[in-house]
Amino acid sequence: MSLDVPARLTVTTRLAVAADRAAIAHLLETAGNFNEEEAGVGLELVDIFHGDGPTSGPEGDYPTLVAEIDGQIVGYATIGKTPFTHGTWHLYFIASDVTRRRAGIGRTLCLEIKKFAQQRDGQRLVLETSGRELYGGTRAFYHATGFTEEARIADYYSPGDPVVYFVWRW
Ligand SMILES: CC(C)(COP(=O)(O)OP(=O)(O)OC[C@H]1O[C@@H](n2cnc3c(N)ncnc32)[C@H](O)[C@@H]1OP(=O)(O)O)[C@@H](O)C(=O)NCCC(=O)NCCS
Repeated sequence: MSLDVPARLTVTTRLAVAADRAAIAHLLETAGNFNEEEAGVGLELVDIFHGDGPTSGPEGDYPTLVAEIDGQIVGYATIGKTPFTHGTWHLYFIASDVTRRRAGIGRTLCLEIKKFAQQRDGQRLVLETSGRELYGGTRAFYHATGFTEEARIADYYSPGDPVVYFVWRW
């Protein structure tokens, strides 16, 4: 008997290269919950990563990874070692292709981020996100991936929009 269930596709990851910029911009623009300013900042970090300044590159401030399925970019994340800390890293941006959600892209990126940070003495990954309903799926993703919610500040982004801090401790 054959079951009509699509095989889970293999998600691979690598460091982003400059030619990935347009694909990353598309991910940011179509993610569904980033406004124009946020998408712009996301791309600025990618540009710093690809620049030739002292904070560029994989050992710089904003290491950026992409996820691929069959050679097509389907997700990305920008992270960074948090200044003035021992072993704390930040997840600044993460997004997966809106047409391929719940396929393990986000989880694969997080596991690769963990490996990348651990190789550089990372002991925990911190992120901040919104407490708005629009971000309910995103928060569920963080819970499912191993993060715990550790703090909230009410009215942080705007009245009624709290910031939620998540931590993934290794
Ligand atoms: C958050 C995001 C990156 C998750 O990516 P993804 O590729 O869909 O995540 P995964 O497929 O790896 O999900 C892993 C698990 O997280 C949970 N999860 C993911 N999305 C979820 C959702 N919308 N609702 C409930 N649970 C969810 C599930 O348990 C899932 O496992 P399952 O599908 O086997 O049940 C993606 O939804 C996204 O790009 N959102 C828009 C951008 C964004 O919010 N970025 C973060 C800003 S702080």
